[in-house]
Amino acid sequence: MARIVDISREPDYMAQALDVLAKGECIAMPTETVYGLAGDATNGLAVARIFEMKGRPRFNPLIAHVGSLSMARRHGVFGEIAEKLATAFWPGPLTLVVAKKPDGAIHDLATAGLATIALRMPRGPAREIIAEFDRPLAAPSANRSGRVSPTTARHVAEEFADTDLMILDNGPCRIGLESTIVKVLPDSLVLLRPGAITDSELGAVTDLPVRRPDAMNGIEAPGMLASHYAPNAKMRLNVTECPQGAGLIAFGDGKECERQAAKDVVNLSDAGDLKEAAANLYRHMKALDARGFDLICVEPIPTTGIGAAINDRLTRAAAPRE
Ligand code: TXA
Ligand code: MG
Repeated sequence: MARIVDISREPDYMAQALDVLAKGECIAMPTETVYGLAGDATNGLAVARIFEMKGRPRFNPLIAHVGSLSMARRHGVFGEIAEKLATAFWPGPLTLVVAKKPDGAIHDLATAGLATIALRMPRGPAREIIAEFDRPLAAPSANRSGRVSPTTARHVAEEFADTDLMILDNGPCRIGLESTIVKVLPDSLVLLRPGAITDSELGAVTDLPVRRPDAMNGIEAPGMLASHYAPNAKMRLNVTECPQGAGLIAFGDGKECERQAAKDVVNLSDAGDLKEAAANLYRHMKALDARGFDLICVEPIPTTGIGAAINDRLTRAAAPRE
């Protein structure tokens, strides 16, 4: 049975977490984006455990989470642009892909043998744990591979019910969608995954163009190609008239969609607030999925701001499965 430790009630959560990590085992930890399944990024066995627990293909690299900018610099090459981005957005929901330092201690299994490394400094207790541990933590989202990311400790416990995973509970994640991932190049940025930090914010801080990955160069975003973030139900997007008996994920006041025939309606944000919608998305997807719908419909959601990331995750959830 997975074990939930409420960090507001158990003052020695830090000591417990450090103890598990030092043994080369994993913990689940809260971040501002989603819950992560974390292990010592310098320990090959710990990293192997993460891949195994998730059922994740080993060619899909992990993000190394750091507790300070100096820790990030020990493992990745930080030029002027990366420094600017880290200074502007860390700690926060931004992952930087930079050249991996050949003498850095992060295990090759974590980076799937790539010459680049993905680094992020999370906000809150996760950062404190990493700073205290004094080593980076590899942490993918704490869900089985290909499934919806967890935004509460209970979601994690459901994913890993049959394990003895220790789950640090810090309440629901504030942002609720995975970090923005950007690859830093000398003359441009490549947005590998949209998130709460938008491309216009990235462009404003660096004065560089923000491009999308080349369709032909799939390896630039190894985990981003297949169907992902998938519930069991079939998903249909941009629905303006909900079919009889379906589950409906609504957004806003309902002017965009005929909701009458839906069997069950959950609203991402009655007020039409995109940040609120992002924070609710995975929880609502999971809730409808648990009610056993064959079809989940989703109303149109604007693509401005974090709306781009919401639509990105929904498109993946609706993509044909293998
Ligand atoms: O918000 C987040 O980023 C969460 C929390 C726990 O920090 N983590 C997360 O990790 O979403 P994960 O493993 O679910 O997604 C990481 C993505 C994968 O799609 C992986 O392919 C990509 O980052 N990635 C990792 N290293 C990379 C690299 N060197 N180049 C390109 N993509 C990379
Ligand atoms: Mg994930």
